[in-house]
This record gives sequence, structure tokens and C-alpha cells, in this order.
Amino acid sequence: MATVLITGGTGIIGNRLTGLLIEKGYRVVILTRNQKVTNKNINSNPAYAKWNPASSEIDLAALQEADYIINLAGANIAEKRWTAKRKVIITNSRTQSGDLIVKVLKENANKVKAVINASAMGWYGEDNPSEKEPRPFTEGMPPAADFLGTTCSNWEKSIDPVTTIGKRLVKIRTGLVLSLRGGALKELARPARFGIAAILGSGKQIQSWIHIDDLCRIYIHALENEELHGAYNAAAPKPVDNKTLTVELAKKMKGSFYIVLYIPSFILKWIFGAMGRELLKSITLDNHRIHSTGFRFIFPSLESALNDLVLNNESA
Ligand SMILES: NC(=O)c1ccc[n+]([C@@H]2O[C@H](COP(=O)([O-])OP(=O)(O)OC[C@H]3O[C@@H](n4cnc5c(N)ncnc54)[C@H](OP(=O)(O)O)[C@@H]3O)[C@@H](O)[C@H]2O)c1
Repeated sequence: MATVLITGGTGIIGNRLTGLLIEKGYRVVILTRNQKVTNKNINSNPAYAKWNPASSEIDLAALQEADYIINLAGANIAEKRWTAKRKVIITNSRTQSGDLIVKVLKENANKVKAVINASAMGWYGEDNPSEKEPRPFTEGMPPAADFLGTTCSNWEKSIDPVTTIGKRLVKIRTGLVLSLRGGALKELARPARFGIAAILGSGKQIQSWIHIDDLCRIYIHALENEELHGAYNAAAPKPVDNKTLTVELAKKMKGSFYIVLYIPSFILKWIFGAMGRELLKSITLDNHRIHSTGFRFIFPSLESALNDLVLNNESA
């Protein structure tokens, strides 16, 4: 049974990924900063071990057990306003994680075959507003010069050196993850529960989304297939605009008993500050690269994803 070490495995994606890996027969060890959960039995599956990238601490016994590392750790970008201090935490939590993984792999004997690292569509910035039909972003495109672009670039750069010590590296540039357990969809579902489809700004901004199970399956696909190297966009084949996403969610939750409410852009910027601008950006991802590796989506359409998440009450 191969062992997968997951940093940040206590989060929304890590939680679901852990369940799917265990179902497939893997042993999972979650690296967490949370002292309370590290006290669980080390022989359990999942097991928990301690690390703290800010102070360069890591449980070396857990590292030595690992056949693969999945690096998901990072301060949540939507949890708090983007003050100057918060921006430093968002960036450093990611680069310090990458730096620490590189350092311990270089300095300690280990059997790690591959590192699969989270990254995000924020790498690309936003669709060119002067193009009527936006050209979807492909993995060879350079990072944007804005905060998220720079953060993703520094994040990926921090983990890149693992390739110099012979480890296979895959980076998953993730779109908007659909789950009712957390993230954007959970927030959209709050008003929808009361029959309100709360559309952000004009609602025309394109959102490249992915069902959480398909994302977790991409992580497992990357882990199991040695021919995967480098960056891959993780988004379903048909991005939709914000209005479609919001209205379709309200319909699934309330049938025809909902009203449409537009939340003006200035209110979003006022409430969320710089993060409010991110909610209004169009980002269209091209997913041909992951498709060309043989990966197939279980939830290629929004209809199929929402049916699973809302009507089947999210198996995750
Ligand atoms: N969800 C999305 O829509 C989405 C989209 C694109 C990219 N991603 C990326 O995918 C990764 C996982 O996403 P998620 O939605 O599962 O995130 P999440 O629920 O916020 O979980 C992230 C985990 O990272 C750890 N963490 C938080 N703050 C940290 C800090 N300051 N230093 C080190 N570790 C810290 C936490 O684990 P402990 O407290 O146990 O240490 C937490 O459980 C993230 O890096 C995220 O940026 C997510």
C-alpha cells in the first residue's frame, strides 16, 4: 500500500481527496499545524503528523514513510480581507511550504517518487476584455503581474527545485472548486436557500469551475501516471458566466421559487476590498492538456455537477 503525505489535508480539498485515496487502498498521512489533530493514533488511516512551514518544523518519520507528497497547504484567500498583512500570509504560507518540502527532500533519505502541488487559475490574471471570444488560457502562458499571479508564480517557483533532485513534479492550476462543504459555492448557496440568486456585478464574468470530485481525481491521476509533468489546468470543459452558475444553483435548490438579485460591483468592492475585484474577473481556462493525458471528467457540465452536489447532497 503506497503512502501519500498531504499537507493542508485538513481543508476542503484535502478532506475529500483523503477519502478517495483511502477508498482506492492508499495510506494517507496528513501534515497539519493543528496540535489537537496530531494526537490521533499514527496507525490510523488517515494518520496525522505535525509540521509548521513558518518555523520549518516537520515530522521526519512521516516524510520517510511517504511514496508521494500532495502539497495543498496555504492560507485561505477568501477568508479575510486582503490587508497588506493578510497578503503576506497568503503568499508566505505557500512559498514557505514549498521551500520546506524542497529542503527536507534534499537533506533526508526518502522514497518520494512525485510531488503534486496545488496552484490556481489566478496565475493567468483575467481574460483580455478587448477580445469578444476570449482565448482560453493554456499552461505555457506567463503569470499575470497582479497579486494572485505573483503569488502563484512564487508558489510554483518554491516547489520547482524538487525536479533537480529527481522528483517528478505536477502542478494543478485549479479553477473554482464546486463543493457545498466550503468555498464559493457554499457562499452562493446561502442566499439561494432563501430563494435569492445573488448575482455578482453584471454576472457576465466567466468562471472556470470544477466539481470537487473531478479535481481530486485529477490529483490521483497525476500521482498514478508517470508521464504527467509540469503544470495542468484543472477546470471542466464548459466554463459558465456567474449569472448562469448562480441561477442554476438557485433552480436546483428552490425549483422556480427564487428571485434574481444583482449585487452591484461597487458594493462588492466596498465589502471585500481588493478581493471584491477578483469576484468580477473573467478567467477562461483551456483544459486540453489534462484531457490529452487520458483524464475524463465525471461531471463535464454544470447541470451534472449541480445535480450531484445539490440533489445527491454531495457524496463528499
Ligand atoms: N477551493 C478552491 O476553489 C481552490 C481553487 C484554486 C486553488 N486552490 C488551492 O488548493 C489548496 C487547497 O484548497 P482548499 O480549498 O482545500 O483550502 P482550505 O480549505 O483553506 O485548506 C487549506 C489548508 O492549508 C492549511 N493552512 C491554512 N493556513 C495556513 C498557513 N498560514 N500556513 C500553512 N498551512 C496553512 C490548513 O491546514 P492545517 O490548519 O491543518 O495546517 C488548511 O486546512 C489551497 O492551496 C488553495 O489555494 C483552491
